[in-house]
Amino acid sequence: MSLIFRPLFEKFSSTYTYLLADFESKEAIIIDAVQETKQRDIGLIEELGLTLKYIIETHVHADHITSSCPLKERFSDAKIVLGEANSVACADILIKEGDILAFGKYKVMAMSTPGHTDGCMSYVVDGKVFTGDALLIRSCGRCDFQGGSADKLFDSIQSLFALPDEAAVYPAHDYGGRTVSSIWEEKAFNEMIGGGVDKAEFVSRVNAMNLSLPAKIHVAVPANQVCGANIISDG
Ligand SMILES: [Fe+2]
Repeated sequence: MSLIFRPLFEKFSSTYTYLLADFESKEAIIIDAVQETKQRDIGLIEELGLTLKYIIETHVHADHITSSCPLKERFSDAKIVLGEANSVACADILIKEGDILAFGKYKVMAMSTPGHTDGCMSYVVDGKVFTGDALLIRSCGRCDFQGGSADKLFDSIQSLFALPDEAAVYPAHDYGGRTVSSIWEEKAFNEMIGGGVDKAEFVSRVNAMNLSLPAKIHVAVPANQVCGANIISDG
């Protein structure tokens, strides 16, 4: 065994949290951890005897509150990582396109993929890409708040589509129970941008999404700008 890879699910916001670790060194990263499931995640990290190095966010979320700060309180050597466009004071590392983090023998390569929000990042690890809300399975993130831009998201998804076809796509959410896709599948079948859709058509599709605001947006965005500090919850 070499890579420990544990996809985890938070049911209230349909969020995926990903725990990855190097089996030999036990150094670990966690991507998009959620308040409601922090005890589960802390318990798993402790049970497996992992050393958490990085607490990574794909973006400042609007639909749930991160558990970055509580995780850092428990694992004090871990560093909170957010995209540089977020300028969030609680981040230890503001990461940018092409930056690389290491855990054990594995590398995390950061890609700037704005559009859903202006500070969205995707992360490539060991043939997998963690796309946040930029590229979802057969869909993509909305672009109507937090500096969102369908124009930018089109370009970001094109950069994701330049990854190898076999790269496995792990999004921040799926509302239909799907867990993983691949770049070739999304290039072919994504309902917003697959099959060679051009930018003008993509922008009009995104603008036609017409979604209601996430129920927690007015709580979640300010809470996430302080990395979920001082949240009282049962989780
Ligand atoms: Fe989001």
